Amino acid sequence: MADFEDIVVAHATDHVLQITLNRPKARNALRTNLLREIAETLDAAANDDAVRAVVLTGGEKVFAAGADIGELASLDLKGVVEDARPGYWQRIADFPKPIVAAVNGYALGGGCELAMHADIIIAADDAQFGQPEINLGILPGAGGTQRLIRTVGKPLAMKMVLAGEWIDARTALTSGLIAEITPREATIERAQALAATIAAKPPIAVRQAKDVLLKAFDTGLGAGLRLERQAFTILAATEDRQEGLSAFMEKRKPEFKGR
Ligand code: CAA
Repeated sequence: MADFEDIVVAHATDHVLQITLNRPKARNALRTNLLREIAETLDAAANDDAVRAVVLTGGEKVFAAGADIGELASLDLKGVVEDARPGYWQRIADFPKPIVAAVNGYALGGGCELAMHADIIIAADDAQFGQPEINLGILPGAGGTQRLIRTVGKPLAMKMVLAGEWIDARTALTSGLIAEITPREATIERAQALAATIAAKPPIAVRQAKDVLLKAFDTGLGAGLRLERQAFTILAATEDRQEGLSAFMEKRKPEFKGR
């Protein structure tokens, strides 16, 4: 496994890769190098059949305090226009396999946006989510305005982005931002278990399902239903579909091979 400066990458199980942000002194602030390392890890994982799901976490204390403010401050207009970070964010967004985020502590600014790049968020009971960029004279720059409003709805998204107010885990749960709340000591373990459950499912069906579900954000119902039908048809050509249907009828556990 490659050596990284800002993240730790390890296999949580055979088929689950775990990425842990590792800049504790800067509250895991997302400097460009950190985003590059995540993007490169995910690019490699996308092409590695052994990886079927990813856990993304900031560790036990904090998920991420957002973009690295020192780095942001060093960028003038030209620097912002030529910034490499949007390219890394796009590569993270394009990762085709499921990502489960385990959020302990703060997920602020780019940290909240990074969590929203995951497909499922599990958060500790004391986790906090916020988009405080307005306090810096800027706005969320990694998809936060678009993903947040689509996920939690207008009133809460407006409150978070315009007033910079944070929300707690309970509000995040009731608004649909996160899937589950756990005690802090169980967050990463629960994310790993959920990722392992997904990793045991037929990988091609999982990828198709993730792709079609995310398309619901930017297609109308008719187009989305056509995409669903296309994906359903593609899966008819897979060995895993045959295996899943046969195993059910033979009353045994299916063994999916990703074919
Ligand atoms: N960038 C760079 N460094 C950061 C940072 C950030 N986003 N957040 C915290 N740090 C650093 C602090 O400067 C401090 O460094 P020193 O020890 O060298 O002084 C260290 O991390 C610890 O910070 P605190 O003492 O403030 O720790 P705390 O636990 O009391 O508070 C916090 C933690 C609430 C997260 C607070 O640090 C904070 O409010 N951070 C900024 C949050 C923020 O505004 N995020 C949005 C960034 S902009 C953005 O994300 C744009 C985008 O959409 C991509």
